[in-house]
Amino acid sequence: MRRGAIIQLAVFAAIAAAIATATALLIPWLPVSASREAQRIHFVYWFTTAICIAVFSVVVAVIAYSVWKFRARPDDDSDGPPIHGHTKLEIWWTAIPAVLVTAISIVSAIVLAQNSNAGSNPVKIGVLGRQFAWQFTYSNGQKLGYLEVPLHRKVELDITSDDVIHSFWVPQFSQKQDAVPGAHNKLVITPIKLGKFPVICTELCGLGHSLMRSYATVVPQAQFATFLKNAGKQPAASPGQTAFDKYGCNSCHTLQAASATGTLGPDLDKLKQYATQANRGTLPAFIKESIVNPGAYIQPGYQDQMPHTFGTQIPAGQLTQLVQYLAQNAK
Ligand code: CUA
Repeated sequence: MRRGAIIQLAVFAAIAAAIATATALLIPWLPVSASREAQRIHFVYWFTTAICIAVFSVVVAVIAYSVWKFRARPDDDSDGPPIHGHTKLEIWWTAIPAVLVTAISIVSAIVLAQNSNAGSNPVKIGVLGRQFAWQFTYSNGQKLGYLEVPLHRKVELDITSDDVIHSFWVPQFSQKQDAVPGAHNKLVITPIKLGKFPVICTELCGLGHSLMRSYATVVPQAQFATFLKNAGKQPAASPGQTAFDKYGCNSCHTLQAASATGTLGPDLDKLKQYATQANRGTLPAFIKESIVNPGAYIQPGYQDQMPHTFGTQIPAGQLTQLVQYLAQNAK
């Protein structure tokens, strides 16, 4: 091959590499990484991207050079020269991708192994997904609707589901983990950035899927210790309110008394007015029917979207408390 041709190919490759590198670096494709695990995953992304840019530049250079040098004239109808395979070239273009793909697999395997290492003394937090809310159980027994984690400590989440398959995801922690009924999946997080990040359900789980959101807050270790100590001692919420939070009513309904602001289902502050409209017995009877058999009467303007499973999910005692609570707080 002529020296001139090699220089021309190199120029094409350099231009392609420069454009691809600028596209990769100048656009913020990834969220900030707020955990050690996210940093490692981002490293895999960049490692793979660098390889892709190298391969892309070579391919673009060869294509551009060929289009430029070997273009047929408009009136040239002759056949091209009869070319057979080139064994040496074929060995190279098989061997190099094989090595690159193997390198990506090895780096990924190392990162995956490091990311699932919870160390000897992780902070353990239970995560429960249910249509359509997240519930977090802390070591002091407290159950809350949001995730609070300490900075620079390994946190091991034990993720499961009450009903269908959900998936736990905090974009800034990068790694996703499915919440599967009957299974306990682990996810390790080592927060490295203070702040508040969204918790998102990333597995289509029903009509309220897009609303199945909470947040994760990363706090200094001392503040987390105080949180754990005090969380258990906070004045207990009324049993009805506890059931309201526990079964995720807040994700779809508005109720001032519970600071709930969901809008997918009817506004529970208007329950009295709705009960009169519906004319299906007393207020508590109407509320109970609406929970146990939500399809029986649909408030105009809404759809039959509420899971029909609460009748079997909520024990009778808690159901009574929940009905009382809603009846008391309806305006
Ligand atoms: Cu839970 Cu989507």
